[in-house]
Amino acid sequence: ASAEKGGFSSFMEKEIHDQPAAVHDTLLGRSDESGRLILDELRIDPAELKKVDKIIVLACGTAAYAGLVAKYAIENWCRIPTEVELAHEFRYRDPIVDSNTLVVSISQSGETMDTLMAVRYAREQGAKTVSICNTNGSTIPRESDAVLYTHAGPEIAVASTKAFLAQITAAYLLGLYLAQLRGNIFSGQIKDVLADLNKIPEKIQTVLDSAEPLRELARSMKDEKSVLFLGRHVGYPVALEGALKLKEIAYLHAEGFAAGELKHGPIALIDEGQPVFVVVPSPRGRDSLHAKVVSNIQEVRARGARTIVIAEEGDEAVRQYAEHVIYVPETPTLLMPLLTTVPLQIFAAELASAKGYDVDQPRNLAKSVTVE
Ligand code: G6P
Repeated sequence: ASAEKGGFSSFMEKEIHDQPAAVHDTLLGRSDESGRLILDELRIDPAELKKVDKIIVLACGTAAYAGLVAKYAIENWCRIPTEVELAHEFRYRDPIVDSNTLVVSISQSGETMDTLMAVRYAREQGAKTVSICNTNGSTIPRESDAVLYTHAGPEIAVASTKAFLAQITAAYLLGLYLAQLRGNIFSGQIKDVLADLNKIPEKIQTVLDSAEPLRELARSMKDEKSVLFLGRHVGYPVALEGALKLKEIAYLHAEGFAAGELKHGPIALIDEGQPVFVVVPSPRGRDSLHAKVVSNIQEVRARGARTIVIAEEGDEAVRQYAEHVIYVPETPTLLMPLLTTVPLQIFAAELASAKGYDVDQPRNLAKSVTVE
């Protein structure tokens, strides 16, 4: 078993370390030198795709958070209204779906019953369906009009890691392809995003190689009772995913919030010593988002929180407000989740092992839930 784990202590650790390859392999062969997307595998008539006026992303668990991340990018690049819905909620609310709706399902296994039933329902209503999936020939891709496979390789640990980054990558390729087809953004811009995406694998490696202080922090926090996660924009779904990982494998109460929502309720949770992770957007981004998040850090800190900040390399402004800073390499805002998620995965895996738990097989959970 140790050989299967590639020398790592668990499949989850191995899969966290597989992430540079997962992203690289998912990008591979899907664009040309000139920066054009080539998604011939997407067997839906391009004329039909041009007519799409709404996108609905359907998924469960971690895959749904990949969908939430993708929404920011797809709306930005394609200007197509994009909703993300938990698959099990979808068909019970009489959703508005027609032949100009593109339903994008995201599933690592391709067998999640909740997601499958939602895709079936969407098809019956006449929607076009694309599956983003990590498992060749599984049920959801077979029942969809088209599939864009993630090439993360088999994921064994129950808590999803490399599939998540590969799902974001594939959804981004789909978004760029739609933008290219519809002429929403200049081809030069698509080329730039692709170039930035191609740099992600080595940047993930940098994050992996500098994780020792983070692991030490995780071990020191094994007796915490609750951990909160804050983020904004694409950092918000990253915060949700960070909290989910801790619940899943460390059985620790954890919640993710949109940082702007703090003042509307969650800030009441903060008291002396409460650990709070904050996912900080790039200071190079527009819209004063960075400044807003920095002030959110100050707000929780003023109320006694211990802040653990994930920020972009070179962001010195956050230092004075943070107990711990974890830096990730510079990258454009929309791509940041591909880096900022990684420390949160490592933190959860390390904390869970420090508690003596089986990180690959957490209690009460299954890798793929094939009942509704
Ligand atoms: C289960 C797993 C989660 C996973 C979710 C969706 O609940 O424990 O880790 O995110 O299913 O799985 P899928 O295979 O559809 O991505």
